[in-house]
Amino acid sequence: MKKAIEICEVGPRDGFQSISCMQIPTETKIEIIEELLSSGVKHIEFTSFVSPKAIPQLADASDVTRAVLERHPDADLFALVPNLRGASTAYSLGLRKVCYVVSLSKSHNKANINRTHEQSLDAFKEIRAAYPDLDIVVDLATTFGCPFEGKYNDPDAVVSFLADYVNAGMKACCLCDTIGIADPAQVKAVLSAVRTAYPDLWLAVHFHDTRGLGMVNTLTAMEAGADEIQSTLGGLGGCPFAPGASGNLATEDIVWMLNEMGYETGIRFSSILAAAKHEASVITGNYSGHHINIEKETPCRL
Ligand code: COA
Ligand code: ZN
Repeated sequence: MKKAIEICEVGPRDGFQSISCMQIPTETKIEIIEELLSSGVKHIEFTSFVSPKAIPQLADASDVTRAVLERHPDADLFALVPNLRGASTAYSLGLRKVCYVVSLSKSHNKANINRTHEQSLDAFKEIRAAYPDLDIVVDLATTFGCPFEGKYNDPDAVVSFLADYVNAGMKACCLCDTIGIADPAQVKAVLSAVRTAYPDLWLAVHFHDTRGLGMVNTLTAMEAGADEIQSTLGGLGGCPFAPGASGNLATEDIVWMLNEMGYETGIRFSSILAAAKHEASVITGNYSGHHINIEKETPCRL
């Protein structure tokens, strides 16, 4: 029997938000989301409802939402929100799932969202109470280390930080390596501690590939019980409020590896690679990923 794993594409949010050299046309964003869906991607974080001054690239969030929801009302499409206002806008447009971001690092939480930890928890409770039927994934940014505070080495600190959120009704959480500083031993320790403390919590992981450890960290997290892994088409990405943050783990890389390993990803490699190349041609100019010649060199399973 094939092993299943959920792959969540976060490029249209985490990837696009990092592009500051051009405003990606709304139609291009929609086109790329369509290509992801037709490649077999089932879960997509496709925009965010944040201040347009903080992230000008995603100022068209409402237009993108209307277009994709009209064409794909049943797909698992969700957006990032930093506060009740963002959640209200998302909800009014018809979204029933969001991710809500808070950083383990106090200083990154301030730089990213301009809040203290107490204010972030209050805002989560506010959204939870205002929209009881909204699925909320809590994105824990800087789980493994922070651009201002350095690397973390205490898995119990993650567990105790999450306790208030679990008590406030959190059912799903994504542990995010915002700056790509995690290593596999740390990933194993953190995932195991969180899994043991909260066995019913639905757990996703999100790795940036700053040090080339995105794949091995993801695989380690899967082995330690992650339910979903996040990645971006072409490895695009990086938080504009985390100095030095680089791109995410590339979706086409992880899809190739997991398909080869016999996982049931549901994503066709040739199709996701074509989408990555198309995205590169319209955004960064050329595709520089690992798989440029792979169709010629290697027979792929999908
Ligand atoms: N959607 C759109 N606009 C919003 C908003 C939302 N959800 N929340 C606040 N705003 C607007 C306000 O109207 C205000 O606009 P104005 O300057 O024209 O009056 C401005 O944003 C600032 O709002 P304020 O309530 O004073 O918040 P702030 O300055 O403390 O900023 C955030 C807080 C959360 C709005 C802002 O830091 C933010 O959007 N951060 C997003 C960070 C992000 O996306 N990081 C990458 C992903 S992890
Ligand atoms: Zn990220």
